[in-house]
Amino acid sequence: MLNTDNIIRNFPILTRVIKKENSQAIEANQANGKKLVYLDNAATSQKPYSVVEAISSYYLNNNANVHRGVHTLADESTTIFETSKIKIAQFFGAKNNELIFVRNTTEAINGVAYGWGEQNINLEDVIIVSVLDHHSNIVVWQELCKRKKAKLVFVGITSEGKFDEEDFDEKLKKFSGKIKMVALPHVSNALGSTVDLKTIVKKVRDSEKQQVDKVKSQKIRILIDGAQSAPHMKINFNNLGVDFFAFSGHKMLGPMGIGGLLVREELLKSDEMRPWLFGGGMIAEVHESHTIFNDDINERFVAGTPDVASTAGLAAACEYMDNLGMDNVLKHDHELVQYALTELEKDKNIEIVGPKDETRTGSVSFIFKGAHAHDVAQVLDSEGIAVRSGHHCTMPLHTSQKWIATTRASFQVYNSKEDIDALVDGLKKVAKILL
Ligand code: ALA
Repeated sequence: MLNTDNIIRNFPILTRVIKKENSQAIEANQANGKKLVYLDNAATSQKPYSVVEAISSYYLNNNANVHRGVHTLADESTTIFETSKIKIAQFFGAKNNELIFVRNTTEAINGVAYGWGEQNINLEDVIIVSVLDHHSNIVVWQELCKRKKAKLVFVGITSEGKFDEEDFDEKLKKFSGKIKMVALPHVSNALGSTVDLKTIVKKVRDSEKQQVDKVKSQKIRILIDGAQSAPHMKINFNNLGVDFFAFSGHKMLGPMGIGGLLVREELLKSDEMRPWLFGGGMIAEVHESHTIFNDDINERFVAGTPDVASTAGLAAACEYMDNLGMDNVLKHDHELVQYALTELEKDKNIEIVGPKDETRTGSVSFIFKGAHAHDVAQVLDSEGIAVRSGHHCTMPLHTSQKWIATTRASFQVYNSKEDIDALVDGLKKVAKILL
């Protein structure tokens, strides 16, 4: 396990106390409060000092627009932006060119739908997603399919709550020759199920080869929603074999409002993926009749002023994670998940949903029998414990399993087994009050 006593010192918010009487969080050491136990990390993680400092230092010392001035501050700002980009791309095992900044995973997926989908998806083409997907990897494609009269096909889950590879095989076979995009989550935000990307990529590339016999050079592009994997495991984009990888900074100790879309350089160079936002910064020449976009891929996808401070904050988050070591981060997470599963299963009121084996990452979700998830979360909050309740932006998953709502505890590097003990105790209070 990571040394959480040391880590917590870098996260001032974790020393706060939650006081329920007036529903306000108050300073630590005030009476009548409960120590905050933050278990809502899949929604957003907390930020260490180094991230907050990177942001404030930028605004206090260097703030100026990038790439547009020759003065000292403009130069410093440009350097901060560019060096941060290099750091973040390296953290993800991607080339600098392959990283496009966006606000979050949702925006990244929208970017693919507009920058790639508009020109590559046609009538009756098929896009494959899964029942495990977050709404942002469903609604975006539903809308594209509506515009293009294409078909959205869902892969189901197994009885354990894992991505159903057999169903995937069947769908690849059934729609062979028509599939243009496979868009899947790396880790489910609702169930913690980890999709085995190696297997997925192999299946897609094999099916692509079979398609080529029937349809001329039919390519299937693969997009991975990495919102819930990037915070916990090493991502090496260049080894993954996927075409697009989307992530959010705020779930991996970084600031809100900055995330990334990784796109294979080949797609950018060939113009298969085009800019979807237009304006200043991304151009080479503008004429009344037409515009020529910037040849440099690094510039072509930066329309308007970028969020330099958040970029610096995200680079600091990557550095923080790197110092811990992503292998240690994943090991820590898996130990917490397994401990939570073991402890929660002892409670007869709890039904765990999703996989229980070592592939489960990031979170544990459950149904508290006899009480609504929102009520469960409210009682836990009165104990200072923050969890998420509801459908977790996965209505198709919840509907398919006939779950009204679930409660989710999700973890980060600062969580310890004591936090899970607090959750287990909190759930005893839930039983006393609600059953
Ligand atoms: N997608 C985020 C979650 O799962 C908001 O909570």
